[in-house]
Amino acid sequence: MTALGRFFRTTTFKLTLVYLTFFAIFGAFLLGYFAFNTRRLVTEQITQTVDAELTGLVDQYNQGGVRRLVIVVEARSRNPGSSLYLVTTPTSEGLAGNVGSLPAGEMNNPGWSETQYRRLDEGTDGPEHRALVRIIHLPNHFRVLVGRDLEEREHLFGIVVSAGRWSLAIVVILGLFGGFIVTRRLLRRVDAMTGTTRTIMLGDLSGRLPVSGTGDELDRLAANLNAMLERIEGLMQGMREVSDNIAHDLKTPLTRLRNRCEDALRTARTPEAYRDALERTIEESDGLILTFNALLSIARAESGHAREGMTDFDAAEVVGDVCELYEPVADEQGLILKVNASQPIPFHGNRELVGQALANLVDNAIKYAGPSGDAAQKADAPAAEIVMSAETADNQLIIAVADRGPGIADADRVHVVERFVRLEQSRSKPGSGLGLSLAAAVARLHGGELRLEDNAPGLKVMMLLPLSKPNPAPPIPAAI
Ligand SMILES: Nc1ncnc2c1ncn2[C@@H]1O[C@H](COP(=O)(O)OP(=O)(O)O)[C@@H](O)[C@H]1O
Ligand SMILES: [Mg+2]
Repeated sequence: MTALGRFFRTTTFKLTLVYLTFFAIFGAFLLGYFAFNTRRLVTEQITQTVDAELTGLVDQYNQGGVRRLVIVVEARSRNPGSSLYLVTTPTSEGLAGNVGSLPAGEMNNPGWSETQYRRLDEGTDGPEHRALVRIIHLPNHFRVLVGRDLEEREHLFGIVVSAGRWSLAIVVILGLFGGFIVTRRLLRRVDAMTGTTRTIMLGDLSGRLPVSGTGDELDRLAANLNAMLERIEGLMQGMREVSDNIAHDLKTPLTRLRNRCEDALRTARTPEAYRDALERTIEESDGLILTFNALLSIARAESGHAREGMTDFDAAEVVGDVCELYEPVADEQGLILKVNASQPIPFHGNRELVGQALANLVDNAIKYAGPSGDAAQKADAPAAEIVMSAETADNQLIIAVADRGPGIADADRVHVVERFVRLEQSRSKPGSGLGLSLAAAVARLHGGELRLEDNAPGLKVMMLLPLSKPNPAPPIPAAI
């Protein structure tokens, strides 16, 4: 498409044309009305003057007969302005006046008419003029004509019409010019935007649409698109990191698995040795499957699809269930698992994912705060407590797991939530570094956050989840 074609197809230009057409029609109507009424007004004035003059002449006739009438008409004809006078005999022979000739038989029809005439002083070859005349027949059949030349009226009408034409032409030209300027400005901005989107499509996600700062609709659109690009860039960055992490962190166990199989093939001689190798392979594979499952759960929580599986459930009950599930393991480790959630707390969310996230937190507490953990406890020390709680505050559901273990240093609290991050001192324990990531993803899915705090000593991990349904309003007093 040519640049001009593109120009004419813009919405702004089409809108300009539509407005201009409407305005021109309206303007033409207004000017036409004005011109028509000016003409009518002038005609009315002419008829009034002619009527008055005619009445005067008839008076003169009544007082002094045709003689007097002829004298008066002669006198007026000498200084006529644009007035016309003619007195004729019953056979239309001119007696007095300044009209040279009229169309044949014109004087036979009394009343108003628009007619052609020649002036007496311009001779029989003079130019023809137009006039509005009134003819009356006197009682003795003599005829009197009084009229007014219409040149003035036509002239005035011509001025109004040509002024109208000019102003319409100027309006159209200015309108087109204005439309051209506005469209060109808009096109330039849209072109700049298109240019940026093209570079973005070529893979450079850091590009942003230009914002002119006027705050108009294009600016608002650009600002929104920029915010969207920001988000997409962030997500892409996250995706890239995740895939890098996955590639890196799964490569090690897979290589180990492969080497172990190769080793068995090379060295094992007895069926027992093969069995042993196979069992360890299965163990290693189970670890991998667990990691994949954790990754899938995180992806599910982050994709937003999990929102479809949201139901109403009792958060306190979920905490109780997880406690029941982990109590035997905690017991084994010499830990006491306690629940602080006496009342049911209705919550709307994904029950399964909340349960899974909570299980991860308890699992961590048991793993890292147990007596065999890094903070090795003396044999006679009282069993450490892990406290699970669910409560509401500030329209939030707070599910927390607090332990009495070594805790996490301030500086590390941000990192441990990232995928595959495991602290150095925890490397001896099984795990893939995805537990806290899932808990954080689940909190985000519910519009909340995961918070890690010092439990002095130990770690307190809290999931703060906004209660989507506000607390019931307090009852309204009966009498106000
Ligand atoms: N209750 C805790 N006490 C001390 N350290 C913890 C606790 N919970 C988590 N951590 C630290 O955070 C890291 C990440 O935890 P997580 O994401 O659950 O992965 P994993 O448990 O598989 O190592 C752990 O490796 C551990 O170093
Ligand atoms: Mg864990």
